[in-house]
Amino acid sequence: MSRRSIVITGASDGIGKALAFEMAERGYDLGLTARRLELLEAIAEDIAARYPETQIAVEALDVTAYETVQPVFDKLAGALGKIDIVLANAGIARGGRVGTMPLADNLMTIDTNVSGAIATVSAALKIFRQQGHGHLVATSSLAAYRGMPRNAAYCASKAALSTFMEAVRAETYKEKIAVTVLHPGYIDTEINRHLKSRPFLITVEKGSKIFADLIEKKVARATVPVHLAGVLRPLLKLLPTRLIARMG
Ligand SMILES: NC(=O)c1ccc[n+]([C@@H]2O[C@H](COP(=O)([O-])OP(=O)(O)OC[C@H]3O[C@@H](n4cnc5c(N)ncnc54)[C@H](OP(=O)(O)O)[C@@H]3O)[C@@H](O)[C@H]2O)c1
Repeated sequence: MSRRSIVITGASDGIGKALAFEMAERGYDLGLTARRLELLEAIAEDIAARYPETQIAVEALDVTAYETVQPVFDKLAGALGKIDIVLANAGIARGGRVGTMPLADNLMTIDTNVSGAIATVSAALKIFRQQGHGHLVATSSLAAYRGMPRNAAYCASKAALSTFMEAVRAETYKEKIAVTVLHPGYIDTEINRHLKSRPFLITVEKGSKIFADLIEKKVARATVPVHLAGVLRPLLKLLPTRLIARMG
């Protein structure tokens, strides 16, 4: 059987970077993208040294430069021969209270986490339809389940992404295209290291292993870690606003 491949956006750090190592370990070829090309090149060098059989293509990509996403994905498909899996993972979080924090920070969160992901999914689907198969995965968040203080745009962006992916799952229902949405709780990366409290925190190595397991199982949706779906997700939905208000 030919080797399988995964393209990851936001692969220069955090979950995307750790998943690149995990998927190389599991025998996948890699397409790695992010804005910081020098970090991607260092990661590619490190992976090539540890897993010499891995084919790795690296491309600088800012997902908010929407018109560049398709050409970069086409280039990666050419370099890898095919793309089996795309992880729309690039994301930012900029905390603050609406009306006090810079408007630009909230708009950039939506641009990156929603519009950037839509551009990524669109490019992936075009390639998947040309190939006749593919697996689309998006990194949403537990934040999709409840609007939290100091994170309004971030929570809204992840809720939008999850709903967008649900619609894509329905649109691709009769095609050989699988759709997975992952909702992590706190995973130890730069995106949240400044926070005082990170309940149920897991390491990025553990998080990326769980991501890889869920991707290989082609689950429709799951929390990361999986057990958070049992208590935390329903709790987030049910907690009264007076308690949610204290979390900011
Ligand atoms: N860590 C958590 O606890 C947690 C929980 C729930 C959801 N998530 C989600 O997981 C995803 C990855 O986050 P992380 O925790 O790994 O954070 P991270 O360590 O800060 O990594 C974020 C990645 O996104 C990339 N990125 C940011 N803006 C981009 C843009 N405009 N274009 C292309 N790439 C961009 C960054 O690369 P460059 O700066 O090089 O472009 C970096 O590789 C995000 O979608 C985040 O919302 C994380």
